Amino acid sequence: MEIIVLSRSQACQYAVDKIAQVLTQTNGKATLGLATGGTMTPLYAKLCQSNLDFSHATSFNLDEYVGLAPDNPQSYHYYMNDQLFFKKPFWKSYLPQGNTADAAVAAKAYHEKLVTTPRDLQLLGIGENGHIGFNEPGSSPTSITRVLPLTESTRRANSRYFDDEKAVPTHAISMGLSEILAAKQIILIAFGQKKAKAIYQMTQRPPHPDCPASFLQNHPNTVVLCDTAAASLLK
Ligand code: GLP
Repeated sequence: MEIIVLSRSQACQYAVDKIAQVLTQTNGKATLGLATGGTMTPLYAKLCQSNLDFSHATSFNLDEYVGLAPDNPQSYHYYMNDQLFFKKPFWKSYLPQGNTADAAVAAKAYHEKLVTTPRDLQLLGIGENGHIGFNEPGSSPTSITRVLPLTESTRRANSRYFDDEKAVPTHAISMGLSEILAAKQIILIAFGQKKAKAIYQMTQRPPHPDCPASFLQNHPNTVVLCDTAAASLLK
């Protein structure tokens, strides 16, 4: 696992360049794993400003809240349409279906789709408690897409995007760690002091379910892009 400390703008440019490389290598037909959250916003803005063409590419998002419809502004469907897809349409874009009568059935369908469509590049953010996607502490490296309860700390951290903490859904459908680790290449981005502890645990401690992101140490091609604040606990 390579750790690179950069400014936020340089980190986003680094990711844009890697995405461009993968598009070139695949004649535009790349399959990208995409993430949501504030960290990804400046990166998607750069992609929108670029001349990259995603019209033959496929995307798979990491996760979606259970119970939110795609037109709900807090849903990840809405986020992706707003930040990327409306401006840069993909050939096909997949997200887990959170607003369904049976989320477990939606999770299984998503897993089956992932198995047949390997990702060339997976983008990741990280939660303050070391989660990736919504794989909260305790997640197994062999986990697959499933319905997960969100921890209180994650609901509190994500409440900044909602009217109040009570409005944050209690469950999400998330890609599992095994599916994330199946991507050929992974870029994890972390900005800000609030991510420093998670970055320390992910990179400096042996892989452990207490910090799900630490299993990325076992992946052969992962780059961690941090700003100085997120890297502040590293030697
Ligand atoms: C959510 C998402 C994660 C994301 C994390 C950090 O919990 N499920 O995929 O990495 O938030 O988000 P932010 O970038 O807003 O700090």
